Amino acid sequence: MNNEKVITTSDLISDDPSYLETIFSIANGHFGIRASNPIVSSESAGTIVNGFYEMSEINYGEKAYGYAENNQTIVNLPDVRAIKIFDSESNEFSQSELKSETLDMNTGLLTSVYKLLNPNNQAIELKLQSVLQQTDNHVLGLRYTIKSIDYTGRIKITKHFGINNDTAETDDPRKSRSLHTLTYDRNKIDDSCEVLEVKTKKSQLVIDLAICSQHALEENLELNQPVDFDIIALVGDINTKLQMIKPSFSEILADSKSFWHEFWQNSEVGIDGDESLNQAIHYNLFQLTSSTGRDGKTNIPAKGLSGTGYEGHYFWDTEMYMSPFFAYTNPQIARELILYRYSILNESKKRARELGVDNGALFAWRTINGEEASAYYPAGTAQYHIDADISYAIDRYYKVTLDKDFMKKYGLEIVLETARFWRSFGSFNNKGFCFFDVTGPDEYTAIVNNNYYTNRMAKFNMEFAVKLIDEFPEQSKRLGVTEEEYDSLKDAAEKVYLPYSEAEQINQQDDSAFDKPIWPFEDTPKSNYPLLLHYHPLKIYRYQVNKQADTLLADFLFDDISQNQLKREYDYYEKITTHDSSLSRSIFSALAARIGLKEKSYDYFMDTVKTDLIDLQKNTADGLHVANLGGSWLTIVMGFGCIEIKDSLLVINNNLPNKWKKLSIRIKFQGRLIKITYLHAKTVIDILDGEPLNVIVDGIKKNIK
Ligand code: BGC
Repeated sequence: MNNEKVITTSDLISDDPSYLETIFSIANGHFGIRASNPIVSSESAGTIVNGFYEMSEINYGEKAYGYAENNQTIVNLPDVRAIKIFDSESNEFSQSELKSETLDMNTGLLTSVYKLLNPNNQAIELKLQSVLQQTDNHVLGLRYTIKSIDYTGRIKITKHFGINNDTAETDDPRKSRSLHTLTYDRNKIDDSCEVLEVKTKKSQLVIDLAICSQHALEENLELNQPVDFDIIALVGDINTKLQMIKPSFSEILADSKSFWHEFWQNSEVGIDGDESLNQAIHYNLFQLTSSTGRDGKTNIPAKGLSGTGYEGHYFWDTEMYMSPFFAYTNPQIARELILYRYSILNESKKRARELGVDNGALFAWRTINGEEASAYYPAGTAQYHIDADISYAIDRYYKVTLDKDFMKKYGLEIVLETARFWRSFGSFNNKGFCFFDVTGPDEYTAIVNNNYYTNRMAKFNMEFAVKLIDEFPEQSKRLGVTEEEYDSLKDAAEKVYLPYSEAEQINQQDDSAFDKPIWPFEDTPKSNYPLLLHYHPLKIYRYQVNKQADTLLADFLFDDISQNQLKREYDYYEKITTHDSSLSRSIFSALAARIGLKEKSYDYFMDTVKTDLIDLQKNTADGLHVANLGGSWLTIVMGFGCIEIKDSLLVINNNLPNKWKKLSIRIKFQGRLIKITYLHAKTVIDILDGEPLNVIVDGIKKNIK
């Protein structure tokens, strides 16, 4: 077995049950299960289905026009792994102690071992193997293996749905709210299958969970003769599924194995020189892929399917942090993620109208169903950079795949509608084309004028629309583009105002950013971070203090300033950044690699790649930080491996950290599968599948065969 792709409890820093439930959660893009103890119910145990949410009215003390109307909250469905085990006297083995947990990322198999006691203190061992089918992603295979420790005799197991939907009320905005409007309806289909239908009252969604045993649930237990009980759980529309599919545990395992085998073939990242980092990056890619909706109707919740934090919402995290990995390794998934955005384009057009704009579309800052669900508009709707983030992801997908057909049918329309929003929402003054009252990625600075990142992204979005109109004139005409509109987009794009500080000789985060005092870092105790949990927003907004990369993120994406300016900018913004968001360190690490700050880049990377494994933000229990999982890949591939696409050419620069002997990555590019190996003395490129390719490697143009 390859240990770089296996995580066990002994690799981890904590034995806190809710943290372990998250770390060992498994998912298949459609649903995920937390690795909770199947014998003892826990508040955070459960099954999370991508996009299955309930709504509730947002109650504002003071409401204004156009505020988001409804919360959307992902439902924590009953734990399908829960069982009860009884001895020959019908006493329950109700005490359970976790002995070990092992996640094998080669196969997708999770193995959890518990020691159980009955009231007479007689012991048995329960080994639970859980594996999700990946191709038809409605099925979970469970194998419960019971072994005698000192109890022998009859054992009986009963399966039940551990209904437990009450999340404690919380003030932490990163957690989820509790729900009281679900109805549960139990049904026995036949002797082997029990179905639970769950309905949400307000969002009017229905889902079925079924648990089907594959043979008798009673056996004789003897010393040294373990017994297996196989159960499958189905999640989805059971009426159609149950008749069709009831694969065996071994079939589900085989399906999962072949999925993950192919996955690693296309997306392997190998770090030679630090085994624990290698394990961590594999873990991140495994969990990122597990979290990702692949059906064009769902997306990637900020916490994946590993927990209910952030209420299961989709954010800009997808486009800027997670989808790059898919564009370069599994473009089909990147395509599905954009199709989800396409599916909510109409909602987004309506939203733009609510914002008083009679043209274009504004995507919701946080959402499941397309409607805005952010109750706090200064750090929600005001982050309208999300429109350009989505267009940026489309551009990336297009450059990597050259998928014209997709662009004609979907990509063009999204880019056009978002560009129209920018054109209508901005306005000209003597500085140029400006955006007032906006919030950039840094949520510690809100409602300012001309946020550099936003303006730079808006410029890109309108330029991209113009380029696509040139490329697809027919389709553009059908979408209503006139010559006048074309000229107007072009003109605004050229004139977008980008704040720059002459005094500091750097891009300035926004018009007033440098007028403010610097946050009193020396007087801030460590325990007061993250600041958002300890200070009123208005206190934070009055200072120069950043939650996460903002202007630097634009530098990372566009690579359009000199190295010297980049160094100055890095230096300036690093001093005022708290990294209170897990979306921050990866960008700092990648940029440090690009500007040759090797140690720094490495230190940031260590935190990035292990954010969840070491519980850096102290809230992994609520779910994985999925944007950061993608961020760690970004650091490796766009920082250390420094891959960029310039004028349609792949440009690669070797920034291998001193501590590593070798780094190898696999990416897909324009129909090829490419392996890039970075050594200290050279960079080697192999085309594993596909046609020869022109690339620029470490400054030299090469044709790779
Ligand atoms: C970050 C946002 C992010 C959100 C969800 C917040 O803490 O500031 O940029 O979109 O978390 O991950």
